Amino acid sequence: MNDKELVALAALDYVEDNSIVGLGTGSTADIFIKMLAEKISKESLNISVVASSVISQKKANEARLNYISIDQITSINLYVDGADEITQNLEILKGRGFDLIREKLLAQISKKFIVIGDNSKIVSKIGQNYSIPIEITPIAWKITKSLIDKIAKKCVVRENMEKNAFAISSYGNFVLDCEFNYSDLDALAREIANTPGVFEHGLFLKLATLAIVADEGKVRKISI
Ligand code: 5RP
Repeated sequence: MNDKELVALAALDYVEDNSIVGLGTGSTADIFIKMLAEKISKESLNISVVASSVISQKKANEARLNYISIDQITSINLYVDGADEITQNLEILKGRGFDLIREKLLAQISKKFIVIGDNSKIVSKIGQNYSIPIEITPIAWKITKSLIDKIAKKCVVRENMEKNAFAISSYGNFVLDCEFNYSDLDALAREIANTPGVFEHGLFLKLATLAIVADEGKVRKISI
């Protein structure tokens, strides 16, 4: 098994019968979804799932999981998702995908939010390897970007795959990818969230209860 498979397998231990599980987005979360479907069928479990993105919704349907729409729930038992960066304090950066809003909602309402990833995701400071994504409304995107520009070191509007237009999130928004010089990550998260036109951002702070990380076959858990 590779490291992504190992962490997905380890996260399966936290799945309980008669529960609702939130499905993450990305290559690591995809493995978890596949393994979860196998576990449910092998053990005849009664589990419903809710998706964090259009892609994970498709994966859930393909795996014939018992799917509930996010507008039908107010809490879930478990949310398992990948991340772009993870610190030892369980500060998490997410959002290379386009569904920050659903991801943040599921992280917030889950009784347990487990982040899974290989060792490349571990950083000493958030923003070390990736920009911080900020989903903004297109209606006044120049205003919102100019306000974020005042506090950012660098900030660009994300482009689509073809690089001929701005990328559009699943909810019709634009995404800014930004770098910051910061000393207080909580304060930065608050400042971004309070900027008019911002829908959501990729800083997941005080949300994860456990990270399961694998490094060349060795699985370790980080909890606070
Ligand atoms: C999507 C995410 C993903 O979970 C993150 O990008 C990790 O993806 P992968 O498991 O493919 O490395 O935050 O918004």
